[in-house]
Amino acid sequence: MTDASEFDVDFVRGLFPQPCWEWSFFENAGGSYVPQSVIDRLTAYMSETQVQPGGNYPLAAKAQARMDEGHDLMAAIIGADPDEVSVSPSTSFNVYVLAHALRPLWADGDEIIVADQNHEANAGPWHRLAGTGISVIEWKVDPVTGSLDPADLDRLLTDKTRLVAFPHVSNLVGEINDVAAITQKVHEADARVCVDGVAYAPHRAIDVKAWDVDFYLFSFYKIFGPHMGCLYGKRELLLEAHNQYHFFHGEDALPHKMNPAGPQHEMFAALVGIADYFDAVYSRHHDAPANSLHERVKAVFELAARHEEILSTRLLDFLSSKPHVRLIGTSSPDRNARAPTFAFTVKDRPSADIPPLTLDDKVAVSSGNFYAYRLTQALGLDPADGVVRASMLQYTSLDDVDRLVGSLDRIL
Ligand SMILES: Cc1ncc(COP(=O)(O)O)c(C=O)c1O
Repeated sequence: MTDASEFDVDFVRGLFPQPCWEWSFFENAGGSYVPQSVIDRLTAYMSETQVQPGGNYPLAAKAQARMDEGHDLMAAIIGADPDEVSVSPSTSFNVYVLAHALRPLWADGDEIIVADQNHEANAGPWHRLAGTGISVIEWKVDPVTGSLDPADLDRLLTDKTRLVAFPHVSNLVGEINDVAAITQKVHEADARVCVDGVAYAPHRAIDVKAWDVDFYLFSFYKIFGPHMGCLYGKRELLLEAHNQYHFFHGEDALPHKMNPAGPQHEMFAALVGIADYFDAVYSRHHDAPANSLHERVKAVFELAARHEEILSTRLLDFLSSKPHVRLIGTSSPDRNARAPTFAFTVKDRPSADIPPLTLDDKVAVSSGNFYAYRLTQALGLDPADGVVRASMLQYTSLDDVDRLVGSLDRIL
């Protein structure tokens, strides 16, 4: 067996089209690169089976089978059953739909708690319910660190609370919120959780059953896939939520009732390529077969997390050495504490000034509020300028980080 402490980044990079590596790419929290396996699945669907899927004739049956395989594998990746998973164009879309599906279950004056650490995707649709008689209460971050304190929920939760919406990881703060503990606390108050896992999913394995979450969302285009979003919901909760698709699909049509966009055929088929990717990385590092795709994905993320911790240490050491840099979130690289998404500001310098200066070094970073608009406000920042953000993924190399550090050192 290969030494399990080594994550073979060169092998991993070889699974992606080579032009990806011409730049040191740090906009991964915006969207990941896509491995060849996903491109191949997409191409195969569009070149061989681009017909209305269904069982009427062999080609249509094959198209349906390819789509179903993509859907079922993605449910398996997070430890869910296929009917508990709705795949649609994006997470923003899924939360919007979910808010509409749940609102009829609640009475005027019921309360929902929304963390201001959220990306707007898991904030706006809930805040809008204030206009329909729901009382929306903010769970506020620490204005200096950007951290969320679960103890705050002890005074925010009431017997009217129906839902708590918060991120697993903020796309700016990078800290890992303890989803299982928060969920347990919310359940003790007889309320439900809606967790935005978009910034967590690229870095650690998702285990919806182990965490006992009610609703959990993430986006495939951040974890090596096409531009689609995934909504997991507990079966009984999806059944009681109101149908958002054509009326004739009915209330029992899981998961279709939660996707008024209808399926994007070729993209469903392309999802199989994500499983291909994890299988390839797993096989590179382990001789022994794992029982399930979920186990293989967990094993890959376990190795990748160690690799990410090494990368994080390098960048955090650099950022911490600059007194005029304000890092958002913990400066600990501990893989249990944070994901490798780093946002910072530089004293007396607009964030927007920094990214153009890294271009000469072929380093791609970005600046802005990244739709965590309310969070930048809570941190006392100008949302129009926001932060500089550098984010890594398992294919990021130590050379990339060195190039980033060198570039920032020259600029700062
Ligand atoms: C933490 C987080 N949540 C939600 C979203 C929205 O995801 P989508 O683009 O799939 O709507 C993003 C997108 O950047 C994000 O970073």
